Amino acid sequence: MNTDSAAHANYHDRRARLAAHMGSHGIALIPTAPEQQRNRDADFLYRFDSYFHYLSGFTEPKAWLVITGSGKTVLFCLPKDLERETWDGIRLGPQAAPAALGVDEAYAIDELDTRMPLLMDGCDTVWYPFATHKGLEARVNGWLQPLRDRVRFGTLCPSAQRDLCEPLDEMRLVKDSFEQATMRRAAQISAGGHIRAMQLSARMLREGKEVREYHLDAELLHEFRRRGSQCPAYGSIVAAGENACVLHYRADAGLVRDGELVLIDAGCELDGYASDITRTFPANGKFSGPQRALYELVLASQQAAVNATHAGARFTDPHEATVKVLAQGMLDLGLLDANQVGNLQDVIEKRAYFAFYMHRTGHWLGMDVHDCGAYTEPSEIGQATTRRDALTGQTIVNRPARVLRSGMVLTIEPGIYVRPAPGVPEQFHGIGIRIEDDAIVTDTGCELISRGVPVEVDAIEALMRG
Ligand code: GLY
Ligand code: MN
Ligand code: MN
Repeated sequence: MNTDSAAHANYHDRRARLAAHMGSHGIALIPTAPEQQRNRDADFLYRFDSYFHYLSGFTEPKAWLVITGSGKTVLFCLPKDLERETWDGIRLGPQAAPAALGVDEAYAIDELDTRMPLLMDGCDTVWYPFATHKGLEARVNGWLQPLRDRVRFGTLCPSAQRDLCEPLDEMRLVKDSFEQATMRRAAQISAGGHIRAMQLSARMLREGKEVREYHLDAELLHEFRRRGSQCPAYGSIVAAGENACVLHYRADAGLVRDGELVLIDAGCELDGYASDITRTFPANGKFSGPQRALYELVLASQQAAVNATHAGARFTDPHEATVKVLAQGMLDLGLLDANQVGNLQDVIEKRAYFAFYMHRTGHWLGMDVHDCGAYTEPSEIGQATTRRDALTGQTIVNRPARVLRSGMVLTIEPGIYVRPAPGVPEQFHGIGIRIEDDAIVTDTGCELISRGVPVEVDAIEALMRG
């Protein structure tokens, strides 16, 4: 929990922007995330709700934030309780909350049901995040009930409910300087983890030791925690050899073999912000000819995507740039046979490249690894067109893609995955490669904040030499 005054001002500014958007008779209700049981008496590591934390900086469970259109913020949180705190940890408590967090008022969470109708009385619109918290809609209606029951005595029951995700997603999509600084630090820590894992792999193989995926996973975790990250931002992928062709593979016990590649997709979470980095490297530190050929192709496609990432470009521009380079490379390297699939334009139109590249080139990154934010341009939603997809025959609705703005953060992550199949050159069988970096959009281009771990073949080989 960040209680310094610069942080206060930041959260206060976000709440004020939200209040201005709602209008003076709106009220916003934001619960934090529930605790989740893992099994019997063991819980998953607690993770607050991203919207809640974005507006409060508060990390404890069982808390709600209420923001009124007039700009008042009320926090409901766990009360001080010596016995419970002995078991579960120190609580901030409502008395200390205004000074610690910069909120106007704070009450114990067990006052929520009695105070919420009072706070809503006289408001015209209740804002809360739709379809994100189980049972929330019913709870809101439960608080409206006593107001409705008492209209004869002069209460004013709100007449509209609106989705709070809409304004909050727009706010979160463009990262302020405070967020960008945190994301830079998160990416630097993750880059350090990748370097450690690469170096350990080569060193253990040089020493004749058996290397397993979990050895490399342990290096990542060690570096994340050693440098203050709370946890990985998502389940780390450490995929040796052919496992790299399984897109959602998780670090397991697979043998890391001399001569094969390893794909690691892992990033830490730092103070609520995710990083998301993928590197693919030779387990022993030296690329073979075919590995290098495919790797250089993915790297060239990533560079094309980086070049296409700048304020004013569309979100889909980097993907399209990637596909062009990858598709041409697949033809040049014989992964695709021009006699069967035609020329570059045919490969793109028929999506023949999909056999080896089946995901998109990026996503928004922020508090959530697949962060919130509309991927279509809000001002152009009406301009929808439809087309028939060449691969599936389905009708696809196309809306103009989001125009990138300075401060948006996205990943750039092309890949190529070659499962053994008839007609596919054997030298590439079982090779899976992805290169993923995190980019802050700037007016003139983008800032790659994850390049603390290199991507060039020579640089990777050099850092793995010892
Ligand atoms: N690690 C999840 C992703 O790359 O999208
Ligand atoms: Mn990603
Ligand atoms: Mn990733």
